[in-house]
Amino acid sequence: MQPIPWLLAVGSQKGGTGRTTTALALAWLGGAAGQRVALIDADPVQAAALVAAAPGQRCAWANVRLFAGMPTDDVPLAGCDLVIVDCPSLTEPAAQAVLCRADAVLLTCLPESYCLRTLPAAVAALAAARRDSARPELLGLLATGCRRDDPQHARWLAELRAAHGSLLLEPPVPWDRGLRDWPLTPGADLPVGAGAVAYRAVAEQVLAARLAGAGVR
Ligand SMILES: Nc1ncnc2c1ncn2[C@@H]1O[C@H](COP(=O)(O)OP(=O)(O)OP(=O)(O)O)[C@@H](O)[C@H]1O
Ligand SMILES: [Mg+2]
Repeated sequence: MQPIPWLLAVGSQKGGTGRTTTALALAWLGGAAGQRVALIDADPVQAAALVAAAPGQRCAWANVRLFAGMPTDDVPLAGCDLVIVDCPSLTEPAAQAVLCRADAVLLTCLPESYCLRTLPAAVAALAAARRDSARPELLGLLATGCRRDDPQHARWLAELRAAHGSLLLEPPVPWDRGLRDWPLTPGADLPVGAGAVAYRAVAEQVLAARLAGAGVR
């Protein structure tokens, strides 16, 4: 079996937490930084593929190759520096197959009550994947879609920091109109804006983690 490059699974236990947007942004930024990136859309609804490429076209982003399906041995990942997987919901059995191959996991989370209170389901999925090995490592928890003008969002963010401060990736990704509208222009670059600024900081942390983990597998 050919060794596979460092694989980051972007997942969550609940729908609509920004995992597809996060996987897309990290793939785009990784490619723009000169990393050879494979973006694997492993969610059966295949929303990432709809954004990363115009209909019927290949992904035109610099250094990014797009695959739809599971990260199996058949996916030609040789030569990639970074593999980013948009996971199915972590409560789905298919997600276990991704987690078991992943080096690291980034959990996305909304600043809202349901998401905070269902986090144990994500932790349980991760624990199940780690039953037989120390992988995947939890890279962190990323809050997305945070509205600065919403005091309730601020309260939930504070709650997240209090409960999971050491795991929380900073900065949280703000709610950003450009990110919301990204799917309207399939194949478009990461929209410039406050969301992209936050994702750039997160991408630096991902690349640092990849370097720290490089060569282990
Ligand atoms: N930072 C943001 N600001 C504004 N809108 C956002 C942001 N992040 C994501 N969105 C929008 O929120 C919705 C959910 O995001 P996304 O599809 O990335 O989440 P998901 O966890 O992959 O959802 P699903 O469960 O459908 O797979 C989408 O319409 C997306 O465009
Ligand atoms: Mg999605």
